[in-house]
Amino acid sequence: MKKAEIMIDQHFLTGDVDKRIFGSFIEHLGRAVYGGIYQEGSLLSDEQGFRKDTLKLVRELNVPIVRYPGGNFVSGFQWEDSVGPKSQRPARTELAWQVVETNQFGLNEFADWAKQAGSEVMMAVNLGTRGPADAKNLLEYCNFEGGTYYSDLRKAHGYDKPHNIKLWCLGNEMDGPWQMGHKTAVEYGRIASETGRMMKWLDPTIETVACGSSSLTMPTFGEWEYTVLNEAYEEVDYLSLHQYYSNEEHNTREFLGSSKGMDDFISGVVAICDAVKARKHHKKSINLSFDEWNVWYHSKEQDKKLVPWTQAPHQLEDVYNFEDALLVGSMLITLLRHADRVKIACMAQLVNVIAPIMTSDTGAWKQTIFYPFMHASAYGRGTVLNTLVKAPVYDTRQYGEVSELDSVCVWDQEHETLTIFAVNKNLEEDMEVQCDLRQFAGYQVKEHLVLTHEDLEAVNTETAPDTVAPSVSNATKLDQGHLETVLGKHSWNVIRLGK
Ligand code: AHR
Repeated sequence: MKKAEIMIDQHFLTGDVDKRIFGSFIEHLGRAVYGGIYQEGSLLSDEQGFRKDTLKLVRELNVPIVRYPGGNFVSGFQWEDSVGPKSQRPARTELAWQVVETNQFGLNEFADWAKQAGSEVMMAVNLGTRGPADAKNLLEYCNFEGGTYYSDLRKAHGYDKPHNIKLWCLGNEMDGPWQMGHKTAVEYGRIASETGRMMKWLDPTIETVACGSSSLTMPTFGEWEYTVLNEAYEEVDYLSLHQYYSNEEHNTREFLGSSKGMDDFISGVVAICDAVKARKHHKKSINLSFDEWNVWYHSKEQDKKLVPWTQAPHQLEDVYNFEDALLVGSMLITLLRHADRVKIACMAQLVNVIAPIMTSDTGAWKQTIFYPFMHASAYGRGTVLNTLVKAPVYDTRQYGEVSELDSVCVWDQEHETLTIFAVNKNLEEDMEVQCDLRQFAGYQVKEHLVLTHEDLEAVNTETAPDTVAPSVSNATKLDQGHLETVLGKHSWNVIRLGK
């Protein structure tokens, strides 16, 4: 059996968890909206056409904020098409995903849906084919009380009260040549700066997110972040990071090492933000919005066969297996370990499209990756402790030395709970973990939840939805402040302690 130790000290704190790191993402893409969260005429939907079964699972997942409406989609989005009487909304060719967008679901419906889901909206503006004036008009439509053209238009559409959206993305992946209206870093930095400035003149209470690189492997990575912030530092509150991982080469050890890649990516972007801060002698720090992260590769082959210009096709419908859930757990741990600088993160996406929730015309079910997200969002609120982990390591080609144990401890001082999230990445051996908890007098083990499966490729489907599901373990003992536990080989663990 492998051995490891987690060293915890109450006085060494990384930072408070911003609940928005448990955010998600709904894009007008595939069946995320149509057939996912919205299906008019279905027996499973309410009077507004919102799928009740999907909403139930989204509430279970506990998602405090949802990014909308894209993604690549937003770079061609004409928001005016998506509001007002549905019979008058135009169908449009949508270039990002080569489909027809009917606009039968739009931003007002999304604001209503988000309320029902218990989520805030993180709205993206189109800086691909459009610019600052349209972004300002959209903000006026959403947030201005009344008595102006766009706020009165909202009222005329049946929404008397403003939506009061506080978080705004200034475009999406503008560094990517696949993006409509793709820009150089200087071009984007300028437009982001002007857009953010005009938007904040209209509503100084909003926060803005500028586009960072669309992945760590972009040839412009680093240069892009530095230039964009150099142009737009004043008007920007957060810089975005996007990253998807894949196991196309069927090398699970390498694949599970990806969380180390994510960790390095975050540290690198923090360093760039701080370099621009220092150069500008600025007081404000730019924090991070990791607003697209997940595993994405299972659907890539089948998506090559898609016929263009259909409506809401089965697109990006990854069926996640058990090893994907392990990496998602490790990615959540990584985000938490950077709680001092990562303030927003969105798992991409939420329903049907590379998502923890799948639907058909007859029901909705949980993919494997649903569980680590649900656990982290439920029990990962509080303050992250700056722990030291002594654990065996292994070598990877892409990420160098990787720890076999990913872990993070979150302390909720107010409710007197301490939660240890841990992934044992070893594929053959269990791991015995020790932890000195004498500073947490009176704490007891409340529960040890485990997600594991003999078959790394096991999946959940509509007919077998519980193939991969969490169970309760009794492997954790706490005796006189000394915690001892066993983490099974390839397992996700949530050890909950409290008074
Ligand atoms: O989430 C799927 C796509 O991935 C998004 O539209 C885009 O921003 C990214 O490339």
